[in-house]
Parts: sequence; C-alpha cells; structure tokens
Amino acid sequence: MKKRCLLGFFLCCFFIAKGQDTTIPSSVKNVEAKVDSVLALMTLEEKVGQLVQYNGSWDLTGPASEMNNKQKEENLKNGKVGAMLNVLSVEATRKAQKLVMENSRLKIPLMFGYDVIHGYSTIFPVPLAETSSWDLEAMEKTAQIAALESAANGINWTFSPMIDVSRDARWGRIMEGSGEDPYLTSKVAVAKVQGYQSNDLANPHTIAATAKHFAGYGFGEAGRDYNTVHIGENELHNTILPPFKAAAKAGVATFMNSFNDIDGTPATAHKTLQRDILKRDWNWNGFVVSDWGSIPEMIAHGLARDKKHAAQLALNAGSDMDMEGGAYEIGLVSLVEEGKVSEEYINDAVKRVLRVKFKLGLFEDPYLYANPELLDQISFEEHKAVARDVAKKSIVLLKNEKGLLPIQDSVKKIAVIGPLANDKDTPIGNWRAQGKSNSAVSLLEGLQNNVSKEVAISYAKGADLGMGERSFLMPLEINRTDTSGFQEAITKASEADLVIMALGEDAFQTGEGRSQVDIGLVGVQKELLKEIQKVNKNIVLVLINGRPLEITYASENIPAIVEAWQLGSESGNAIADVLLGDYNPSGKLPVSFPRAVGQEPLYYNQKNTGRPFNPTHVTYSGYTDEKKDALYPFGFGLSYTSFEYGNLSISEEELTPGNSIEVSFSLKNTGEREGKEIAQLYIRDLVASTTRPVKELKGFKMVKLAPGESKTVTFQINEEMLQFYSANKKWEAEAGEFEVMVGGNSRDLQKVKFSLKK
Ligand code: BGC
Repeated sequence: MKKRCLLGFFLCCFFIAKGQDTTIPSSVKNVEAKVDSVLALMTLEEKVGQLVQYNGSWDLTGPASEMNNKQKEENLKNGKVGAMLNVLSVEATRKAQKLVMENSRLKIPLMFGYDVIHGYSTIFPVPLAETSSWDLEAMEKTAQIAALESAANGINWTFSPMIDVSRDARWGRIMEGSGEDPYLTSKVAVAKVQGYQSNDLANPHTIAATAKHFAGYGFGEAGRDYNTVHIGENELHNTILPPFKAAAKAGVATFMNSFNDIDGTPATAHKTLQRDILKRDWNWNGFVVSDWGSIPEMIAHGLARDKKHAAQLALNAGSDMDMEGGAYEIGLVSLVEEGKVSEEYINDAVKRVLRVKFKLGLFEDPYLYANPELLDQISFEEHKAVARDVAKKSIVLLKNEKGLLPIQDSVKKIAVIGPLANDKDTPIGNWRAQGKSNSAVSLLEGLQNNVSKEVAISYAKGADLGMGERSFLMPLEINRTDTSGFQEAITKASEADLVIMALGEDAFQTGEGRSQVDIGLVGVQKELLKEIQKVNKNIVLVLINGRPLEITYASENIPAIVEAWQLGSESGNAIADVLLGDYNPSGKLPVSFPRAVGQEPLYYNQKNTGRPFNPTHVTYSGYTDEKKDALYPFGFGLSYTSFEYGNLSISEEELTPGNSIEVSFSLKNTGEREGKEIAQLYIRDLVASTTRPVKELKGFKMVKLAPGESKTVTFQINEEMLQFYSANKKWEAEAGEFEVMVGGNSRDLQKVKFSLKK
C-alpha cells in the first residue's frame, strides 16, 4: 500500500541548502503554493535540470544519445535531471531515484516514463483494434490495468494515449491511434486518460498519461513517418485538435509534441500550438515533453543552427521538457543569461513539471511506485480475462457468406493455414512494453482450446511472412519467394471441411517508422490464398494486422472475412470465441479499408468538393480506374444476426439555442441470435461559412437485442454538437439547415433534416 510520510516532515528534512533557510512550511497545503515554495529555492541550473529527461539506456526507442551512462549518473546526482524513460523494474527505478534523493541538493524526485501503449505485461489489442470495440468502458478498464501493472514495476508515467487522427493506412503508426475520426478519437482519449489517471494521481495504482503527438503527426505527407504536414487552420482545429482538447479537459497530466513540421514550423517550435492554444486558450496546466530528440532534430529540419539554438526555439515555443535530446542541458542556462530565453518561461516550465510531480505524490514518497509489494496485489489471471473480453469485442466481421460463420456443428475437419495461424508473437503487436515475445495465444491454440472433441484440427503454415531478426528498431525482412510449404498446406486444406486462413501483417510491419507503399497481403500470402482456394472454397480468412489492408481480391473471392487485428495476449481464444459463435461479433471499423492503396488518404468525413460525383463523364473528383469510396467504410461491421433501422423521426424541425431536439428510430434484431449493434449518428451542416464534411460522427450507442426484439433508440441534438471552427476563427454553431443521419455504418444511412435558428 501507499506509504505516506508527512509532507511537512519530508520537505523540512530535504531542503537543506547552503546558508539559506530552504524549509518549506508544513502548513503549505495546496499544490500551487507547494510548487511556488520549491521553485523559490531553485537555482537556474536546478530549474533547467527539471526540464531534462534521460533515457535509461535499457531500451532504446530512438537513436542513442551521445552521453554515456557514467555521465548520466553524475548528472542525476547533481540534480540535473527531472525525469527518465525506459528505466524498467522497481529495483532499477529505486536505484535511479536514490541517486537523486541521496545526492542532489534539493532532492526533487524523478518521474519515470515508459511507452505503455496497449498494456504493460498483459497485452491488450493494439489501440486501433481496441477502438473497433467502440466500448469506452472496456477501454478505460484496460488503461486502468495497464496503469496498475506499470505502477507495480516502478513506472509512474505512460506516453499514451496516442490520439493522432490518421487517415492514411500507409503510415505505420496508424495502429497506435483510434483511426480517422476526431469524435471517436476524442471519446477514446477521455476514456484512456480516466483509466490511467483515475481521479487521484497520487494513488499508486494510477499513473500520469500523455496526450500525443501534438500535433498533426498522423498527417505526414503520403503516409511517411516524421514527414512534413500540410494542414490549414480549418483542418487543424476541426480534425486534429479536438481529441487533444478533450484530453486536456479530462485533465491529462502531460502532452508530447511531435516530430513533424506544420506549414514550415516543426511542432516542437510551434508557439501557436503549445503556448497559445494549449496553455493559454485551453488553460491547461500540465507540461509538454518533447518527442524523443525532437528538439535537436530541428537542426536537421533546417530551423535551428545548433543544439543551443534548438533549445531556444523549443523552450520559447512552450516545449517544457527535452526528451533525450541533450539540448536544454547544454543551452538553457546560457540562453537565459544572454536574455534569449526569459527566466519567466523557465519558471513556468519548471512549475508545470513540479505540479505533476506533486500530484503524483512523489514529494510525499519518492519511492511510491518503487514498491515491490504492489506486484503481489495483482491478479494476472483477472487481467487475462479482461484481455480476452476486450479482444473479442474488438473483432470486426467483414464478410460472411455461405453460412460459414459461426462454424457449424457439421464441420468436423478444420484446416488452419497461414503464416500467422500459429504465430504467438504477432498478436502482441508493436509497442508491446513488457509483453513477452511469443506469449500470445495463437489462433491455432485458441481453436484447439475451444473446439469440441469431435472436431479434428490440422495445421500447416504454408509460408513465412516476417523473417530473420524482428525487433522495434530494425527493418523487417519479408518472405517474398519461399513457397516450399505450400504443398503441405494445399494437401491439408483439400482434406478439410473448412479452412481457416490467418494472413495479414507481421507485428513489425506497423509501429514507428513502418510506413509502407504496399498495404496488401505482402510476400507470398496472396499466392498462398489463391492456391488454397483452388482446392477448398470454404475459406474463412482471419486477418491479423495493425493497419487497414487493401484486400479487394479477398473481398471479391473469399466467402468469409474476419478482421482480428493484433489482439494481444489472449488473441487466439478471443478469435475462437467469435469463430465458434460463443461471442456474436459487434466490432465496427474505426478506419476505412481502401479498394486500392492509391486511394489513401481515405476517410468518410471528407468534403463534398465542387465536383462530387457525376456518372456520365469524368470531370468529377474521383478516379477513372477505381471507385472513390471505401471497400469497407468507417463504422462498418457485421454480426451473426441482422439489424433493421426504421421509423426515423425528429421531435422538432427547428432547434434553438439552449434547447435540444430528439432524433429517434427503431432498431430491430431481424435475425435468430442475440446481438449487439453500435448505432451511429452523423450530422451534416449543409451551408456554412467554411466548407464542411459530408457527414461527421456525433454520437453512438451500443444496443443489445434479443432475436426479433425491437427498441426505440434516441439521441439528443443540441447546439454544441453543431459547433465547428468557423470562418470567424472560433468554435460556433451557425444558423441554417442540417442533415441528421443514423445507421450501422458511415455509408448506409437514413436521414432527416432540421434547422438551427439563432
Ligand atoms: C515516439 C514516441 C515515444 C517516444 C519514447 C518516440 O520515438 O515517437 O511516441 O513515446 O519515442 O519512446
């Protein structure tokens, strides 16, 4: 349990400085006063120290810094470091904390950050997959568990959630976010922040969260990681910023800025974003950590002459902490002395860092999270059950013909085929924290664990996908030639009643630096699929992947397709739950699946343009060789039952400020199984002072229905839901006509109209 020593006692004991009374009165109660008291004791060097973050060198998630460990240790002892990352285990964090607590003058405790993206040791679905559940409660729960497991291992700060809206499946980091929609991403952002932080950061079962990457990182040119971003003010405010604003409002402790430049200014030097919007307009009082080395990277961007200049640009723009960049520690003190950075800015940055440390309870007990007893309190079995539950909810059924799913009792022989069928590693995904390699339940194991005794399962890999060394930093080699395993797979498939094929992506095809121009079934997978199809047409294709894939061939030729993503520790069991019908799939895509990679970036909430669609000639906005829309649109997902939307009506045709109107419709389960439908509400602003998307998600509800059951579903619409960043450069709703649409995905919708009168 938490060891609370008395703040007064603690502060009195440790603030012992040369010749000055550094005692902070124990009467100081509130955080702001405590922060000011500590700040008043600090020298400029000590202040700058709080703005420096070092990697622990145990685990690199970026290029290694030039500084050796001995020097880092000395700097820790001298109070020149405010936080560390990648220091793993209670022992290691305790050791580093001790260096500070036993040697530095002011003994200001360190924070320990880590990329706990989708679990710490129990691994949950990758964020894009988990978002497919649309289950905010489940997402909050998995963040809570991730926080608990992290805190029990010495970590008190996660660099999550990543809430970069992304519409380009070529970008490898699309797996880390919640997809293409700002509303859904905002909801997930809040759920995650609440899950990690709860209401009390000083509870040792919670950790500080980070809203990242601020901002625009998901919009890199042509899906290239770290690349230039071209977004105007309208898109910035209406699409990119809403999730960040929601996270700030939910009290996220920290923000991380991003590597990209936006219209000529790297985010790290972006004063408008960091100082004006985030800190002033949103009145947010946490601190902004740079991304790994993003401060000195401004030299490569061609914005800074050297590290010192980079430090000047970053601090002045509101980047508070330098992650492993080595720029603040060499530059800030002299920049202040030279008058190039004001001490006022430094003070503000330091106060922000101290504030979070106070909230985390570190001033009361610097070893709060370095407590070996915490691990004993964890039930990993319970966490596994949650992992299975959220994993099955994250699966999206894309196609189901010939009655192949759920698997019928008449099926007695199943052939499980494909490079990912018995892969225990790929379901763990990238950014796996302390999830062990090869620790997931594979699809084959899941089926073996869950089918009845009368069913015989055979297995053949068919071919490899990823080969050789597979790791976070190294390029992945794909098998593009070896088909020697095909024959065994063909034979087994030909003998089976049903083939389950597991194809998709290796874990290290997505994640940081993993942009691809080919987002299909790479390597020899498509060839394998075609060969199997020649001998057995009863194929259920299970996709295991981290990004939307181009699967047009499969969609046209394979009767059943299940999007199983990378589902984490319990992957195989969760997939078996769905294939065997123990769970009726309810997931919906948070991102569009393209017909061809050339459609990317692809998203449902696009603008209409002046030339929307004209089937009679070519002069409209689209392609001459492919349809314009998605193969599987945002919000899409089937069930083993069917749902019918009807009787759409609106309580009033006119909405006035301060009031709301009600949209209602009936939703009926027209099939033979109980099922859960995620009913979606979209709105279009027909004429506005800036062009507006053809539809925008504004609400969703999960509705459970027994066979034949019908329910009336309602949504309230108010003025706030109609607001956007207008031509007046502010969030407002404009009077006029709106369309409101409801349905089970972003394409198949029924609509009614109403108007806003102001
Ligand atoms: C990534 C961040 C991550 C950081 C620390 C960077 O390369 O962009 O998302 O939090 O490394 O590992």
